[in-house]
Amino acid sequence: MANRSVDAGRSRTDAEAPPRRTGLPVLGSTIPFARQGIDFTDELRPHGDVVAYRALGQEFVAVFDPDLVETVLVSRNDEFPKGEFETAFGELVAPEGVVFTEGERWRRQRQLLQSAFTPAEVQTYVDAMADEAAALADGWNDGEVVELREALSTFALGVLTRALFDLEFDDERAAVVREATRALADVADPSAYAVRSVVPSWLPVGDERRYERAMDDLSALVERLVEERRSDAGGDDAERDDLLSMLAAAEYPNGERMTPEEVRDQLVTFLFAGHETTATALTYACWLLAGHPDARRRLDAELDAELGGRDPAFGDIPALDETEAIAREAMRLYPPAPILYREPREETVLGGYRLPADATLQLSAYGIHRDERWWSEPASFRPERWLDDRERPEYAYFPFGGGPRHCLGMRFAMTELQIALATLARRVEFERVTESLDPTMGVTLDPGAVEVRVKKR
Ligand code: HEM
Repeated sequence: MANRSVDAGRSRTDAEAPPRRTGLPVLGSTIPFARQGIDFTDELRPHGDVVAYRALGQEFVAVFDPDLVETVLVSRNDEFPKGEFETAFGELVAPEGVVFTEGERWRRQRQLLQSAFTPAEVQTYVDAMADEAAALADGWNDGEVVELREALSTFALGVLTRALFDLEFDDERAAVVREATRALADVADPSAYAVRSVVPSWLPVGDERRYERAMDDLSALVERLVEERRSDAGGDDAERDDLLSMLAAAEYPNGERMTPEEVRDQLVTFLFAGHETTATALTYACWLLAGHPDARRRLDAELDAELGGRDPAFGDIPALDETEAIAREAMRLYPPAPILYREPREETVLGGYRLPADATLQLSAYGIHRDERWWSEPASFRPERWLDDRERPEYAYFPFGGGPRHCLGMRFAMTELQIALATLARRVEFERVTESLDPTMGVTLDPGAVEVRVKKR
């Protein structure tokens, strides 16, 4: 493993270039690159912990060393902002959204938004999470084959629509949110996204016109709701604890309020950051459980002992260790955000290697989460590994990123994963119909269609 201290006195000129992987046939074309299979990581990893390659006319440097991940995300994070690869996408989605802003602007937003994700706030969304999961499972018939990715994507969207907007699924205004999120998912499809990263911005690619229409409708809805919530302040609705109400009421330290556009951008950001990520994590967790009867038995024993026939509440979460271990282990094998992107502000040295200013760093959660230096039997699903206390570097596992820009919704997401897994598992078991997965690296680690047979309990 590379040692961080090697960077300290090393001048940029005497540091060597990182090992380079050349001539990857898959890189001849943009779209296969964007829809990379996971084996692409396996091709890079043998070259070392820092590996350079070229694709899409850009220089990429993949990082497979937990200590260097810590360097980039935490100890030297000021030197490695999110790069163009990410911001090109941000411009399209929500330029004012906290995922994409930088510097003082980001700091102000992050501070304000953090108060929406305290344990006390997250607690208020738990009923929505359990209700949506119960409704999903209750809607399935015994023996029915369901496609998990689609089903859990609808579930996660239902939770977000209630948590962010306080709209019930059958409210016609919820349809505006659903259409915006679907249009967003299409426009964020990695093949459209990769094309976007090499063509001039604002040249329409993919389904951008539909997306723009959907965003206009969402803006109008948000504007109406912000007005409603602001004029209701102090009235009956003052108790609302959805994120939109919170953002409508929030003030920056100088007393300014967010404009409706800013509120909209933050909500779109949460839809983008919190929807497919959570749905994907749950999909993998359910599919993995279906193939591991021992883990399933331990889960059932825990739910029987801790819940005794009722659905989980916020207060149960600390006792649901098996449930948590299953969620963690699923995200180790299949991190929903398999790669984090950063760009050095200027030419620099990392792990003893020289990095040019325009390099796009790829911090490979997927590669590091399956590295046998940190994980025994790395390819096996073994939730029990989370209940022992083997020592490993802190950044051997980083499904939620790290440092100041770590996932703002992490507590919300972990709560949702545990509540959903427990609520579903109390009602149903899954049997695999799709026997093996062939995930592709996109904006999230896409499992493709995942079919299971439902057995009611
Ligand atoms: C299992 C589910 C989730 C996973 C695996 C996940 C993962 C991540 C990761 C890895 C980052 C850091 C990206 C980077 O540093 O480049 C991130 C950032 C972020 N996530 Fe999540 N996320 C999840 C769910 C959510 C949810 C539910 C929300 C909100 C409702 C959310 C909101 C955000 C926001 C706002 C950021 C940007 C923070 C900033 O830049 O300051 N995420 N997420």
